[in-house]
Amino acid sequence: MSSKRETPLEVFLNRHDDAAWRETLTTLGAAVHEVDRNAARVWFHFYPLALLRAFQAAADPARLAQELLMQGSWYLKDQLDSSHTFLYGHRFWPEVKRAVARLAEGGEVPEGRTLAEVVGEVARAVAGERKVEESLTTAIAAVGLMALQQVGFEEFRRTPGEVRIDRRHLRRTPEEVLRERAKDEGQGLFGFLRTSDRRWTVVWDENADDRRFKAVDKQEVASGAQTDKRPWHEQDPRCTVDEGPIPVQCRSASCGTCWVGVLGGAENLSETEWRERKMMPLFGYVETDDPRPLIRLSCQARAEGPVSVVIPPWNGYFGKHLKRVREGTAEESVASS
Ligand code: FES
Repeated sequence: MSSKRETPLEVFLNRHDDAAWRETLTTLGAAVHEVDRNAARVWFHFYPLALLRAFQAAADPARLAQELLMQGSWYLKDQLDSSHTFLYGHRFWPEVKRAVARLAEGGEVPEGRTLAEVVGEVARAVAGERKVEESLTTAIAAVGLMALQQVGFEEFRRTPGEVRIDRRHLRRTPEEVLRERAKDEGQGLFGFLRTSDRRWTVVWDENADDRRFKAVDKQEVASGAQTDKRPWHEQDPRCTVDEGPIPVQCRSASCGTCWVGVLGGAENLSETEWRERKMMPLFGYVETDDPRPLIRLSCQARAEGPVSVVIPPWNGYFGKHLKRVREGTAEESVASS
């Protein structure tokens, strides 16, 4: 943790862990507009507080990264303005940053205030300023507060607070985004006659029209991605040449490289099978009995309809560390490694 003096808001936030944040998202529930309900959960899975704390506590962070086979970019401070472009609420990020900063500069957080209430306070201020429904600013308000908790006030204030999506996509209404997400554009004019070669659209960036590919019915999402031969490895070094925009290695649920978050169409992916269920906790991505969770291994999840996913910026065996935390051996392991 930072040695700099924390603001009262950070002191308040630091009383909450990932479980408390998950509970808060559940409490907020319908207060979050449908367009961002899954996106908020996905973002909190991509940037767990426990991951940051593990690296802050490590005597040798580089060694820990090696040990957990970490790849990509997992520090939120390196992507403070860009990590949440897949939330509709991203367009309110400058106002959210200002509202969170104002709250951090203010006095104590009143005793008894819940995390959900503080999120609501930020969301209300932003909704008032932008004259939009509060439900549209609630998810990004939660993201803003978690971001402050992870990066600290100085770093939080340092970035410009930019909106990183183009004007055309900025103009879309939440209803348009939801309609587009559910659209089945894969079948062509006589698609209803097709049986064996049905193809589904998989969108992996809703803010760019060319970031989508087709998957044949019941094909693994990562295999569908492989048909896109553009040089995605130039943008994400985890990608393999000619294997598409989703980073993959084993294609057998062993490496965790191919995980994705599902913004829409989770019901259009095949149910998890035992191997995906068994490996997810080892990677530290998700532990759930939900047969169609929002976090999937794309080399296992098969497309049975249109789907919109997001590719996280890192992968690794973080679950190994979480297991050690549960067993109370995390620090010794880090110190003695
Ligand atoms: S590519 Fe290794 S788990 Fe999917």
